Amino acid sequence: MSIQQNILNNFKFHESDLDLTEPKKELMVGLKNNKKYIPAKYFYDERGSNLFDKITVTPEYYPTRAEKSILSKQTEDIVNTIGKGCTLIEPGSGSSEKVRLLLDRLLPTCYVPMDISRDYLYKVSQQLALEYPALQVDAVCSDYTAEMAVPDSIPRHKRVAFYPGSTIGNFKPEDAKDFLSQIRNMVGDDGGLLIGVDLEKDKQILDAAYNDAEGYTEAFNINIINNVNSHLGTTIDSSLFTHHAHYNQEKSRIEMHLVSTASQQLVVANDQLEIVDGERIHTENSYKFTVDSFQKLANGAGFSAAKVWTDDDELFSVHYLKAS
Ligand code: AVI
Repeated sequence: MSIQQNILNNFKFHESDLDLTEPKKELMVGLKNNKKYIPAKYFYDERGSNLFDKITVTPEYYPTRAEKSILSKQTEDIVNTIGKGCTLIEPGSGSSEKVRLLLDRLLPTCYVPMDISRDYLYKVSQQLALEYPALQVDAVCSDYTAEMAVPDSIPRHKRVAFYPGSTIGNFKPEDAKDFLSQIRNMVGDDGGLLIGVDLEKDKQILDAAYNDAEGYTEAFNINIINNVNSHLGTTIDSSLFTHHAHYNQEKSRIEMHLVSTASQQLVVANDQLEIVDGERIHTENSYKFTVDSFQKLANGAGFSAAKVWTDDDELFSVHYLKAS
C-alpha cells in the first residue's frame, strides 16, 4: 500500500498497489454463461451511484429510512454495546453518510473508510477529517470485495467494522459467509461488526421497493449496460432492455433481471457475443433474512450475536456481532 499525507494532520490516504480486478474477463464470463449474468458491483459507475441515491429516497424503498431510524433512535444503546474509543472500519463507505449518525457519540479514535472510487473517497474522507478534527481518518482505496486488508499502521486494538445498507444481501450465501469471515480476520479477537440487514416481509412491500413508480430502479438496472459498454468497448443498446424485479419467496431474495426485446450480435475484441430476443440477464440478488437466519450465517463466520435492533415496523435490523 502506498500512502499520501495531506495538509490536514488527521487525514491519511492509503492506496492498494494490487489491482485484482479484471473487469473484461469477469464480464465476458457472465455474458457468455448459459444463463447470462452481470455482477452487481457494475451498477456503481457515477450515474449508477447517483441513481442509487435517488432510489434510497423513493417512498417504496424503505431500507435506507428504516436503517437510519434505527441508528438515530438507538445511538446510545449502540454506543454502550460497542464501547467508545474503537477503530471504526467501513468497507464500501461511499458517501460516509450513515456513519455520521454515530461519530459524535461513539467517538472512535480512528475511522477507516474503504472504497474503490478513488476521487470520491478522497473528497468525502478529507471533508470528514475537516469536520472532525479530533478524529484520525485513514482512508483506504481498494476493492474491498477482492482484498479485505487495512494498512499495518491502523491500530489493532478494538477494531469494529461497520457494514450498513444490507449490502451483505447482495452476496450469494456462500460468498456472504466468506466475506464475513474476512471481516472477522481483519477485526481480530477483540473486534466486532455493526451490520445492517434487511428482513423478510410481505412480497408486495418487497416487489414495490424494487419497482418504484418514478422508475429510478428501472433506470439503475438498465444503466448497468452502459457501464458494461464502457468496460468492454461494446455498443450494446441499453434501450432494448426491460427491467424485471420480483421477490422469490422460496429463496428469500429479490431477483433483478434485464430482458432483451431484440437480438443483438456484438464483437468484443477477438470474441463474439450474442444476446437473443427475450433473453434474460441476471443483474442482482438481494437476500432478505430473519434475525435468526442472519445470526446463524454470522456464527458460521466466527461471530456471535451481541445485540440486535429493529425499527418500529420490523422492516430492517441492525446487528452488533462480537468475534467469538
Ligand atoms: C446496495 N444494495 C443493498 C441495494 C439492495 O437493496 O439490494 C441495491 C439495490 N438494488 C436495487 N435497489 C437497490
